[in-house]
Amino acid sequence: MLNWDDPIESIKRKRAEESVSEPIATMPPLAADPAAEPALESEKRLLGGSDLTANIAPIKYRWAWDAYIMSQRNFWMPTEIGMGEDLMSLRNLNDNERHTFFTTFATLTTADALHQRNLALAVYERITAPEVGMAVIAQMHQETIHSMSYQHIIESLNFDEDEIYLLYQKVPQIRAKFEYSNAMTRGLQGNQGDLKEYMRGLFFYYMIFEGVWFMANFCPIFSMQRRRLMSRTGEQLQYIARDESGHVSFGRSLIWALWQEVPEMRMEEPEAHQLMHEAMELEVSYAEYSIRPMLGYDIELHHRHVRYLVNRRLLDMGFNPIYSEDEAESLPWWEEQIGFRKEKNFFETRVTEYQAGGALSWE
Ligand SMILES: [Fe+2]
Ligand SMILES: [Fe+2]
Repeated sequence: MLNWDDPIESIKRKRAEESVSEPIATMPPLAADPAAEPALESEKRLLGGSDLTANIAPIKYRWAWDAYIMSQRNFWMPTEIGMGEDLMSLRNLNDNERHTFFTTFATLTTADALHQRNLALAVYERITAPEVGMAVIAQMHQETIHSMSYQHIIESLNFDEDEIYLLYQKVPQIRAKFEYSNAMTRGLQGNQGDLKEYMRGLFFYYMIFEGVWFMANFCPIFSMQRRRLMSRTGEQLQYIARDESGHVSFGRSLIWALWQEVPEMRMEEPEAHQLMHEAMELEVSYAEYSIRPMLGYDIELHHRHVRYLVNRRLLDMGFNPIYSEDEAESLPWWEEQIGFRKEKNFFETRVTEYQAGGALSWE
């Protein structure tokens, strides 16, 4: 029996002794008919493998298993972040800040709800490798935590739920983004559907919906947080952004692996560029409605940041960027804000690394 007070060396010694005195039990042979033919083709495939493939090990898609483990370690509870400070802050927002905050926040709530449905009905349905399926399910779970976070903010700050959740129906510039997204979901759906359509859907959802739109949509609220406005909401969004950067990286690996395994799914550069141009058009129209000038943030900065994200996603997928190299990152705080290394500890609200189980190492 191990004890937290035991010094590490004694634990290691104890384990070494146990491993000598207690041989590892071996599994008894299974009662299968040795003459029977294997019923299944056991080779794992991302798409089009056997529906009954259930062998997680040997793990063929290590990047998916790693994404799954990472998402479990990054588990967080939105309700652990107290929102009281933002009640005061809300009163101090000027009209432009208030409009930008509500519009941006409302759009995020719709985006997460839509993406849960999309992952469940379209992306997951077709995947036949168990470890990749687990990573997609873990992603779905994280998206539900994001919805829980928004609901926690809404309840804590007494927002009108209908105003937030239904804003996309009232504002054509927001609705246009979701109508475009829904068309992409339809392209992903159906096990017998066209593989090229499936790839377009994956590229759109991982590289554009999450990789550009979502990432950019955090920024107006992050800029407020950096001025100590709506700080607790900003903190919630930092956790969400950390999850989202994991989703984008999982999506990038999934798409690359599909291109390798099913070469006819490979997307050509003109198509990727066209999708990015369409996404940019929708984003510009959306941002013109949503983002009003604030101290430290305006639509010019927003557009520059979006162009930077578009270039970055294209480069990630091996394509040429569509905007000039001079289009340097406009938000010097961006990397720090989504915090690949520096993360908030929501139990103590200070900058540190929080990961469930992250400290439990025997080495
Ligand atoms: Fe999300
Ligand atoms: Fe996501």
